[in-house]
Amino acid sequence: MDGNGRWAERNRLARALGHRAGVKAVKRSVECAIKNGIKVLTVYAFSTENWKRPQEEVSYLMDLFYQTLEGQLKALHRAGVRLSFIGDLSPLSVKLQEKLFAAVELTQDNDVLDFVVAINYGGRQEIVNACKNLAEEVIAGDLEIDEITESRFEKALTMSDLPPVDLLIRTSGEQRISNFLIWQLAYAELYFIDCHWPDFGEKEFEAALAEFYRRERRFGGR
Ligand code: FPP
Repeated sequence: MDGNGRWAERNRLARALGHRAGVKAVKRSVECAIKNGIKVLTVYAFSTENWKRPQEEVSYLMDLFYQTLEGQLKALHRAGVRLSFIGDLSPLSVKLQEKLFAAVELTQDNDVLDFVVAINYGGRQEIVNACKNLAEEVIAGDLEIDEITESRFEKALTMSDLPPVDLLIRTSGEQRISNFLIWQLAYAELYFIDCHWPDFGEKEFEAALAEFYRRERRFGGR
């Protein structure tokens, strides 16, 4: 969801208002995903590197996550959205953590759309954690080294119950993965669009989907 800051600058607004407009774009994307029968939507809301931003912006984003959940949770639940969060939530305030856990619990039986929000998430960190968990199982004698296959490794990742990513969309003209779901993106189609995240709406989302359906996916075969 790149470009909130640049969108604000272009509109001569404070960065905070760019993030606020970004939330509206998240809401539109969730609605559009449901309308188009998409089963899993993951957004990268805060990376492990985003802590390097000024404290004021970090606090604003944390407050925004809280307020957004406070304001949108009922509607998401009614729409059949199952919420989950990936990333290390432990440095977040207890108040925010409680809000996130309560949202997960409330929506756990929904099945229209899996909506995953990555907060304090890093793909490399996720892989390192999976390695540590497997190593502990080996040390405990519960796992043989030869049993560590790709599918067994995948089970040690945080989103192991969800399918691999089909389509990655990155806005604002950057053509990088930036440590997002690096294992799960192995065979994903990558789609880069110049518009800033707050300008990403139904039209842009459906254009990305149309492009995805035009592509021929061979997964290394012929
Ligand atoms: C990147 O744009 C955006 C972020 C770091 C924050 C994204 C968060 C939201 C849109 C809020 C989502 C809320 C929920 C509850 C899912 P940038 O600030 O890096 O923009 P720039 O590159 O133009 O400076």
